[in-house]
Amino acid sequence: MKCSNMVGMVAVLAVVTCMTACGKKETPAAARTGPKWTIGMSQCNLGEPWRVGMNADIKKAADTIPDIKVVYKDAQNDSLKQKAQIEEFISAGVNLLIVSPKEAAPLTQPVADAFDKGIPVIVLDRKVLGDKYTCYISADNAKIGKAAGKWIAGKLGGSGKVVELKGLMTSTPGQERNSGFREGIKGSGIEVIFEADMKWLEPDARQEMESALARFPKIDLVYAHNDPGAHGAYLAAKAAGREKEMLFVGIDGLAHEGQAYVQQGILSASFEYPSGGREAIETAMKILNGGHVPKTMVLSSRVFTKENLPAGEVLKDM
Ligand code: FRU
Repeated sequence: MKCSNMVGMVAVLAVVTCMTACGKKETPAAARTGPKWTIGMSQCNLGEPWRVGMNADIKKAADTIPDIKVVYKDAQNDSLKQKAQIEEFISAGVNLLIVSPKEAAPLTQPVADAFDKGIPVIVLDRKVLGDKYTCYISADNAKIGKAAGKWIAGKLGGSGKVVELKGLMTSTPGQERNSGFREGIKGSGIEVIFEADMKWLEPDARQEMESALARFPKIDLVYAHNDPGAHGAYLAAKAAGREKEMLFVGIDGLAHEGQAYVQQGILSASFEYPSGGREAIETAMKILNGGHVPKTMVLSSRVFTKENLPAGEVLKDM
């Protein structure tokens, strides 16, 4: 064996020995040329501005930390693809995973597999089932739904006919924004006359709203589980010449989306749903440095209306 090969062998052996003996997965300093840790980020899709914003928030926070490199994968709104991408991250031996799952049930097993293999997993925004993950970060979707219900009941003077356009009901924010809303309107005269799953997508929301408009001559307000959905409903009503008959309320509150729609008078209110990207990187660093993190981290939310833009109003506990 040539001397240079010998040196290489010794170096490899040293790395392998340290990886097993030290029990740590970080690349040993001597063998390191780049960042100390690799984080895999599994994003369920990048078709909506909110998710593009989440990745940008992660990148902005990660760019300030030389010790980490973030590798992104986009599952293009396909749970099977997202499962496969998480498995790829596991095989590649990433040091930590951030997962924003499309749906709860199909992504539970791959997340649990990573966790069982000792890879810390931060679940962002949508939940998985069970508790095989390290930390879940999100705003409280049930609280946002409830606040929206109370706000809408107040805005309509206690009664009115409402269309509810729901987010994907196999994802937890859809379920929680629905149950929270129903709790918020309880005891009021608000009647949900039409509800449909628009799967978080503006074109689907527009189509569902066309059905609602065809069936109901009187609609007072549309509550959509996200701003793209509320905008899709608005476009359908506008095409039918009925957009002035009703109000539109959405969730997400991005500056260039929901807040802009409120400013333009398209939406009456948008409820903020922060991406948690920055908090995910802060939490990742704590975990990678051996610190303790809570199982659940709840982010606060605000409601934006024309009267309170751009500051918004922080949602209170109800
Ligand atoms: C983007 C999105 C947001 C929504 C979130 C819920 O994919 O639909 O509009 O608030 O996901 O998980």
